[in-house]
Amino acid sequence: MNLMGEQHLAVVVLAAGAGTRMKSNKPKVMHEIAGLPLLGHALATASSLGASFVVPVIRHQREVIAPYIEAFYPNAVIADQDEIPGTGRAVECALDAIPADFKGAVVVTSGDVPLLDVPTLEGLIDAHLSQGVAATVLTAILDDPSGYGRVVRTSDGSFLKIVEDRDASKKQLEIREVNAGVYVFDAEHLRTALGRVGSHNAQGEKYLTDVAAELLAEGFEVQGIPVTDNWLVAGINDRVQLAEVTAELNRRICEAWQLAGVTILDPSSTWIDVTAELGQDVTLLPGTYLRGMTKIGPGATVGPEVVLVDTEVGAGATVIKAHATGSRIGAGASVGPFSFLRPGTDLGADGKIGTFVETKNAKIGAGSKVPHLSYVGDAEIGEGSNIGAGTIFANYDGVNKHRSKIGSHVRTGSDNVFVAPIEIGDGAYTAAGTIVRRDVAPGELAMNVAPQRNLADWVIQKRPGSAAANAAEAAKASGKNSSEN
Ligand code: UD1
Ligand code: CA
Repeated sequence: MNLMGEQHLAVVVLAAGAGTRMKSNKPKVMHEIAGLPLLGHALATASSLGASFVVPVIRHQREVIAPYIEAFYPNAVIADQDEIPGTGRAVECALDAIPADFKGAVVVTSGDVPLLDVPTLEGLIDAHLSQGVAATVLTAILDDPSGYGRVVRTSDGSFLKIVEDRDASKKQLEIREVNAGVYVFDAEHLRTALGRVGSHNAQGEKYLTDVAAELLAEGFEVQGIPVTDNWLVAGINDRVQLAEVTAELNRRICEAWQLAGVTILDPSSTWIDVTAELGQDVTLLPGTYLRGMTKIGPGATVGPEVVLVDTEVGAGATVIKAHATGSRIGAGASVGPFSFLRPGTDLGADGKIGTFVETKNAKIGAGSKVPHLSYVGDAEIGEGSNIGAGTIFANYDGVNKHRSKIGSHVRTGSDNVFVAPIEIGDGAYTAAGTIVRRDVAPGELAMNVAPQRNLADWVIQKRPGSAAANAAEAAKASGKNSSEN
């Protein structure tokens, strides 16, 4: 980052708190919004600042949080907070985790403020460095400031101190300018000031917020800069705020895709993870969820009522009322309504997975169709084949799973069972109702259905007086529907 010049930068992300207001077995910062844990959003932003050190501070449920950081941010320096509580102590522990001679700017953010963006932080760092102050605090002016620390200013408007909600006087509680929990400090001054901060407050914690007053007392300058968009600093402490911030982030994600050329009929019922990618002229209909690494190709139509998880949809494809995970849907293909695509489904271009069809680990070639009421598991189907209605790929013998292979341009009859392992050659047919237990060579017709016997007058004799028998007798009398058998 150019504006840093020769300055060094460390970014501390606070995530050691217990998050008790979430009432959860899961650490607060691991709750997800738009496909990433809260901490993932915070670390993505922190990692985009070109800092020498990104330092997440953790303690509560370390065993859950540390593996996430190690997997996705292996360059981050994890700092462990000790038993002394408070945001001030957390930052002290962060400073202990980086070289003692570190000089430069220290940005402090929180793992529970997911909408904070890179331009806001860059602007804050810029304001901090250009003013040559010891600390810069990002503030927000809220209609309802309850819960937040209040920014107390002198009568001439200069920064005086931050008072926590629980420690504030009645008069201070009326202040609408709050501490957003995002700061830039000079590293050396921060170290010294933290050493002097005590824990004489309602929570008995060592507050980072007290550093501001400490620095001012030492004759340094501290500035508070209000953010222009309050959503960027919305903190999540409970599940009501989790839902509110999730909806707002989703609204922003939908808006960005709309401006990039995606039609979204109803953004409020369309949920798109930050990790999803959409092409031009995609249409999303209500009740659509695009999760994880889902990618939608140009011109595809998805919805209504579709859930796609880590699924790729090709250009011009159509997906209606379907649930797909770990699947690929080819260009021009059609899926749904009422289709369930489990991991490993790979539908070729212009193929079809139709109504009440479940697939798993199934490669279905270009132009091949499974239109109705079927289960296709552990199978490979060539190109241009048609699987009859009501077909089951019997892949499980009770102990092991086996594969089925169907060639190209095959026509299978309705109500077939393919007992795997099995192979059907190119251009073969199978008759309706066939239980296919032996391989079928190219071009053969397979059938193993018992010859049909029609027992004359069975209903009239065995069910005398019934509606069926009466109808049969009437039909016979009028000479209707006579059979040759
Ligand atoms: C904090 C601020 C408050 C500000 C608000 C903005 C303090 C004392 N108060 O309050 O002025 O208005 O954020 O959202 O800083 N954490 C640790 N270690 C701890 C305690 C907390 O790492 O010992 C972490 C938490 O995991 C969380 C962050 O620090 O990510 C903030 O803690 P939280 O308890 O949510 O503070 P607030 O009450 O929101
Ligand atoms: Ca908070």
